[in-house]
This record gives sequence, C-alpha cells and structure tokens, in this order.
Amino acid sequence: SAEVVPQAPEDPLFGLMAAYKKDTDSKKVDLGIGAYRDDSAKPWVLPVVKQADDLLRKDPDLNHEYLPISGLADFTSASQKLILGKNSPAISDKRVVTLQTVSGTGAVHLGAAFLSKFYTPSTPDAKAIYVSSPTWANHNQIITNVHLPLKTYPYFSKQTKGLDFDGMYSTIEQAPSSSIILLHACAHNPTGVDPTQDQWKKLAHLMRQKRHFPFFDCAYQGFASGSLATDAWAINHFVEQGFELMIAQSYAKNFGLYGERAGCFHFVAAPSPSAQDEVARVGSQLAILQRSEISNPPAYGARIASLILNDEGLFAQWEEDLRTMSGRIKEMRKALKEHLVRLETPGSWEHITEQIGMFSFTGLDEKQVARLREESHVYMTKNGRISMAGLNTGNVEYFAKAVDGVVRG
Ligand code: LMR
Repeated sequence: SAEVVPQAPEDPLFGLMAAYKKDTDSKKVDLGIGAYRDDSAKPWVLPVVKQADDLLRKDPDLNHEYLPISGLADFTSASQKLILGKNSPAISDKRVVTLQTVSGTGAVHLGAAFLSKFYTPSTPDAKAIYVSSPTWANHNQIITNVHLPLKTYPYFSKQTKGLDFDGMYSTIEQAPSSSIILLHACAHNPTGVDPTQDQWKKLAHLMRQKRHFPFFDCAYQGFASGSLATDAWAINHFVEQGFELMIAQSYAKNFGLYGERAGCFHFVAAPSPSAQDEVARVGSQLAILQRSEISNPPAYGARIASLILNDEGLFAQWEEDLRTMSGRIKEMRKALKEHLVRLETPGSWEHITEQIGMFSFTGLDEKQVARLREESHVYMTKNGRISMAGLNTGNVEYFAKAVDGVVRG
C-alpha cells in the first residue's frame, strides 16, 4: 500500500521557480533555473524561432501524426551535422546512430538506460559512471534511476574558483580501465568552468590509454563562446581520436525551446570495418528502449529546429540570435564584476568574468544564499550558482549590493 512510500523532497530548481513566482516583492530577482531572459527579465522567443513557427503554422500539410520511433529524420540528420560538423568522417562513414529524444534530459536517460543494460567493461568493477563533482543535479538521479553505479571526479577548485584539473585527471587515471566518464561538452553546469583545449587533449589522451568510455552532455552549444563549432570542439577532438562515444544534445537553451523538449541522442562507433554493423545493432536496441518509454518523440519543437537547421538563411539568423544571448550574458558578467570591485566587496571576483556559459559559481555559501533570499528577494540555488541570464541592466547593481551585504556578514 501507499503507506510504505516515503515523502520525497521537492525538486530544488523547480521548487525555487515556484517560490520566486509566489514572491510579490517588486525587487525580486530570479537567478535560479537556467533559462534565458531578456534585459527586462522576460522569457525571450528567439526571432528566428518566431519566424520558423510562423512558417510551420502556415503549412497546410501540418498534422499531428506520430513521428517514427527515432524521430524526425531531417532533424536528426541536421543535428548530427551540427554537433559533429558537416564534413565529419564519422557521418560519411555511417558510424553514427541518432534518436530524437525528450530534450537533453531524455538523451541522458536513454544513454544511461542503454549503458545500464548493455555496457560490458573489460574490468568487472568498471561498470560505473563517473560524473563531475559538482554536476547538474539531475544527472545523479537519472543515473541512479537506471541502477548504474555512480562515482565522481573532482572538478571545481574552491580556492581558484576554476577547474581542479589535477584532481579530475588523477581520479580519471585511477578509475578502473574502461569506466564510463560523463563530460560536459561546454559551459559546465553548475560551475561555468571548462577545461582548456590543451586540457581536453590531455584528458582524451589519458582516456584512450585507459580505454574509458566518454559520454558527452551538450546542453549549451552556441552559448559558451558564441560559436557553434568552438563549443563542440571537445566532442570533435574525441571523435577524431577514434573513440566510441555517446552524446546527449539539448536544444532547450540554444533555441529557447525549453518546454518543447527537442533534443537528440547520438552513438558514434569507433572507426573499424564493423562500425556500420555496430551502429545498426546499437540503434535497434535504442529503438526498443525508446518505444517502451516514450513510444516516439514530441514533434513540434523538432519541426521548428529542423526548419532552422536545414535552411541557410534561418541558420544565419539563429547564429545572430545566439550572439545576442551570449553577448548579453557576457555584458552582465562584466557589469556584476565591476559593481563588486567598485563596492570593494571582500574577496576576488575575477571568476565572474572568467567563467562562461549560462551560469556562474559565485562562491557564496548556503547561509549567504539564504540571507540573499530572505533580505533581498534574490532566488538562486543553495550551492551558490547564479543563472547569469537573470541579471539585467535594471537589477545587476541591486544584486551586487545585496551580495556585498552578505559577504561583509
Ligand atoms: C538548470 O540547471 O537550471 C537547467 O538545466 C534546467 C533544468 O532542467 O534543471
């Protein structure tokens, strides 16, 4: 009976969103969930998405039929090209199998479920997935839900508020050979700290030696550097090194299609004469997992993304829109740092402009975060993460002053 079901805690991010909505104070600031806001703190429908949506609605043949189990073919093929590059040998060698998923969450889940069922490491104790500490909170529960043992590698240095590369490297080095390593492709959530290209090369080299299996989560392509290719650099470096790997690709942030749940899961086989055969078999199993869980993916968001990805003009407009978002975020990083420096807030605030992507790991502790909420109506996650997109020219100074207050104690 339901008597045995214990109460679970509320989801921290969605709980925060609900609490913010309830707050009636006009000064309230939402720095919680990672969703882009314009300079008036309003959700932003990308102009290119509006354009594609209008085109779609005018299409007399638009219907609400099921998509195939693997999703919309024009969308999945364009997604391969976006993440792996148009001229990727992996694509021309037909070494990639792609399924449309329920955004990035669905892609991580599909990958984790597949690994849980089929991953056979060369060392028996290697059947575990290593995630960064910290990582996106949902990674932990998605992986635990499919009964894949979870381990962590160090990632963030509290001292430098940058990457703990040595800690990360040595844990991956000590992990049993053929372990699964989950990596954030760019714009790491929650820290905003990424390895440099040189560090990625060292990690790839190490992981080849150790025969580890990379699983990339890519939720911010186009958001970190403003360049789609640069943000996919790490993935493509690993693909060039001949890894067999998996990618979860979300279109929530870079198209602003949050609630439409558009995304893809890709499995890339290592170059070998049997690669095509491998992806056929892997694809057949992924199709069964997909069918049993969601039957087939939701169509509307994928149709919008597909129109944009497959049209040169719309694609160029999209890149412009991406630069608008990443540019505004960068300006807010600068403005926040400048205000804190001007206020002579104790501590160093360099990390605010050094970190990239949607988030900044401020270094504020749980008590300070709680005080910010109580005293200033600022909503952010307990770990000190802020969604930079929640800052704007109207509230950045207010936020800086509030931070100054709690840092001074
Ligand atoms: C976030 O971390 O804020 C976003 O990725 C939203 C989510 O689904 O958690």
